[in-house]
Amino acid sequence: MERWAELPEVEPPEGADQGDSIGPVSTNGNIFTYIGAGSCCLRLDILTDQQKGIAFQLWPSSLLLCKYAEALHAQHPGYWKGKKVLELGCGVGLLGLVFAALGADVILTDLLHAKDLVEANIRNNCCALGINGGRASFNELAWGQTNVERLQLPNELLIIAADVVYHQELFKPLSLTLAALGQRNAHVLLAHTRRWKHDTRFFKMMRKLFSMRDMTSEIDEDASEYASNSMGRARLFQLFPITSSPSEAKA
Ligand SMILES: C[S@@+](CC[C@H](N)C(=O)[O-])C[C@H]1O[C@@H](n2cnc3c(N)ncnc32)[C@H](O)[C@@H]1O
Repeated sequence: MERWAELPEVEPPEGADQGDSIGPVSTNGNIFTYIGAGSCCLRLDILTDQQKGIAFQLWPSSLLLCKYAEALHAQHPGYWKGKKVLELGCGVGLLGLVFAALGADVILTDLLHAKDLVEANIRNNCCALGINGGRASFNELAWGQTNVERLQLPNELLIIAADVVYHQELFKPLSLTLAALGQRNAHVLLAHTRRWKHDTRFFKMMRKLFSMRDMTSEIDEDASEYASNSMGRARLFQLFPITSSPSEAKA
């Protein structure tokens, strides 16, 4: 059986530079247009509502994970088709929609306040989602509160999340949700831009539950240059539950 720990290798694509931005990604008015780097027909128009706050803006780490998903798709065509993916803290929904446009079956989750905008973005991009047969839907999932068993999730599940590590008071609830998903043997792709020293506390918590692999250099050629001081730059991590480390997975 295929295991998420064995993601195929990916070469950095051209144009993977993500700049030095650490705040929300700017939009033209309230619409952010995402044009796929590798697949010329991938275009998503994402509605944002910046004035409403954090969940209604697009954050930069998601672009690194979008590029990773696209590079994997370009180098291993059809890889995402039918894959079951759940996004935590989806905000406006770009990341989950890119995975769906590449063929994955994606549940985007966030607090209830995000529902209307995410569902509008799903509707507005239904043509792009159809290209590779992917699907997207929204579900409320409050970290540390929603019982993930109630979501009737499939067994082979990839969790994706971008820019969800920021407020210290969210570390515990987020780690509880990730622990519950890890018990179901779900693997995680986490894109993170370090803005605060306290972010390291979250990663210490994660290391008790998951083995972690820094995949940034697979997608960003410049990654090694800023490895010692990655403040303000997006990094991409793969987390797999300690009970299923890659060596066990291969056994
Ligand atoms: C910085 S935003 C990132 C949004 C999106 N992933 C992106 O990259 O553009 C963090 C997201 O986490 C969500 N969030 C915060 N606390 C949460 C909680 N307790 N449960 C679920 N989602 C939460 C917010 O609503 C917001 O959408």
